[in-house]
Order: sequence, then structure tokens, then C-alpha cells
Amino acid sequence: MGTVVITGGTDGIGGGLARACLDRGDRIVVVGRDEAKGRALVAADGGTAATFIAADLSLVSENRRVVAEIAQRFPVVDAVVLCARFYHSRRTVTSEGFEHTFALLYLSRFLLGEGLLDNLERADQPVIVNVAGPGPNPVDVHWDDVQLAHDYDGTTALMQSGRLNNLLGAGFVPRHPAARTRYVLVNPGSTATSFAGEYDASVAAHIESMKRFGKPVAQSVAPIARVIESPPREPLSAFVEGGRIGVDDAAFAPADAARLHDLTEGLLSALAVPREA
Ligand SMILES: NC(=O)c1ccc[n+]([C@@H]2O[C@H](COP(=O)([O-])OP(=O)(O)OC[C@H]3O[C@@H](n4cnc5c(N)ncnc54)[C@H](OP(=O)(O)O)[C@@H]3O)[C@@H](O)[C@H]2O)c1
Repeated sequence: MGTVVITGGTDGIGGGLARACLDRGDRIVVVGRDEAKGRALVAADGGTAATFIAADLSLVSENRRVVAEIAQRFPVVDAVVLCARFYHSRRTVTSEGFEHTFALLYLSRFLLGEGLLDNLERADQPVIVNVAGPGPNPVDVHWDDVQLAHDYDGTTALMQSGRLNNLLGAGFVPRHPAARTRYVLVNPGSTATSFAGEYDASVAAHIESMKRFGKPVAQSVAPIARVIESPPREPLSAFVEGGRIGVDDAAFAPADAARLHDLTEGLLSALAVPREA
């Protein structure tokens, strides 16, 4: 039994993983926005092994609040599984001034991984599982306009976030050379989930077909559960639909990872939010 933190654990793959973890006797800490779904999850468990923390993870301040609460309530965290996602066909900016996809699918994952590292390091086999989109044919990072202020497109933002998460994993390892925590990138492949988002008509049609033809959530949960149970030996690894892929190509380039880290620190230091994480 371990303590597993799951962002986006109120629905989709994160929700399926939350149920699987409860079934095998883990304690789970689910972070999501929808209080009703969170309450239902805790009630189904009888309130013993499940904790729900309501938060809007597109906000840096909320990520810092969540990190502080988890760090204080759960001194040992065995796994952090990052699943929260939301799609915007139209460019949307958070109240802190960040483009929403960048904030939720990348910045939040940076803050939670870094912020919970001390708690992870107290576990026997700690692991961060970043459920995103590693795979062949990585897209470029729009380095000069990473938040796509000038030419926004929801799919471009989503695809870029996958690449940013590759680099997040690639940068985590050299930043924490002595850490025992394994960083695992997982692309579950097309899965029939809730596909939380605000879609224009053309994307909505595509999403409906993904909901009809995507594989069942349980199929995408199983490889993630295996990684939590028995993390890979390598500090960084990546899987596509359960199969291992290499992490030595340009998609994971250390120089790009370092560049992203500098860019991230610059954005965060420019933000007038008290730093607790
Ligand atoms: N489904 C696929 O085909 C597919 C393919 C490749 C990769 N992935 C990756 O797999 C992961 C899970 O995707 P999914 O399809 O299972 O997701 P999903 O069904 O759309 O569920 C999204 C989850 O994110 C939460 N969320 C949304 N906005 C949030 C916010 N601002 N703050 C906190 N939580 C928020 C939702 O919480 P509430 O319900 O509480 O609002 C929900 O639990 C994602 O990282 C996605 O990129 C999925």
C-alpha cells in the first residue's frame, strides 16, 4: 500500500487510476476541479483511503496551495500521477496571465513535481508519472512565443504541451542527480475519456469520434498502475501505449530542457505570488 497523488483524478484516465489504486489498497489524494465528482469518489470509498482536494491547477497559486496541503498532510508520497487536462479551441488566459494550456498541462506539472519531491524521496520506490504525449515525431517548441499569443490554435497548444513535458522529464533528472524518484512519461494512446474542454465545431466532431472509438479507460490505466507498482530502474523513461520508447533523441534534448527550465523560472519569478512551494 502506498500514497498516490492523482491530478485530474476525478475523471478519465486519472479517475480510472484512482479506482484501481483504491481496489489494490492504496491511499489516494485526488486533485480536480469538480467538487461533486470529488465528493462522490470519497463517499464511494467510505472516506477512509481517499482524499479529495478541489483546486484549479491552471493557477500557480492553486498549485502552491495544493503542494503545501499535501506536503503537510502526507509526509510520504509514493507516486504523483499528472493527468489534469483541458482543451481550449480559443486562446484563454488565466487570471495570472498565462495561456491556459501552457499553465495547466505544463506549468502545473512542473510545480507539482518539484514541490512534492521531498515527500516522494521519503518513499521506498518513488515515481512521478507524467501522462502526456511522448512519442515519435515530436513537435517544435515555439520558443519565441511559447504561450502562442500570436498564432494560437488549440491543437498546436496541446501538441506543444506534450513536447514541453518531454523536456520537463529530461530536465528533472540533471536537476536532481541524487534523487531516487523516477520520472516516467506515459502516452496512453487514444482513449475514450471525458475529453474535458471547450471545442469549436470541427474539433468537437473529432472528439466525438475519439469518444466512440478510443480504447476503454481500463486499458490505459493498466500500464500506469504497473509503473507505480514497479517503477523503471532508469531515472527517466517513456512509454507509448505500454511499450517503451527511447529518451535519447532530440525530443528530450538536454539543452532544450535547460532552456525550458530557464524560461519557466523567469515566468514564475515575474509572477507576484508568494512562493510557498
Ligand atoms: N484521452 C486520450 O485519448 C489521451 C491521449 C493521449 C494523452 N492523454 C493524456 O492523458 C491525461 C488524462 O487525459 P483524459 O483524457 O483522461 O482527461 P479527461 O477525461 O479530459 O479528464 C480531465 C481531468 O482533468 C481535470 N481538470 C481539468 N481542468 C482542470 C483544472 N483547471 N484544475 C484541476 N483539474 C482539472 C478534470 O477535473 P474535473 O472533472 O474535476 O473538472 C478531469 O479530472 C492527460 O494528460 C492527457 O493529455 C489522453
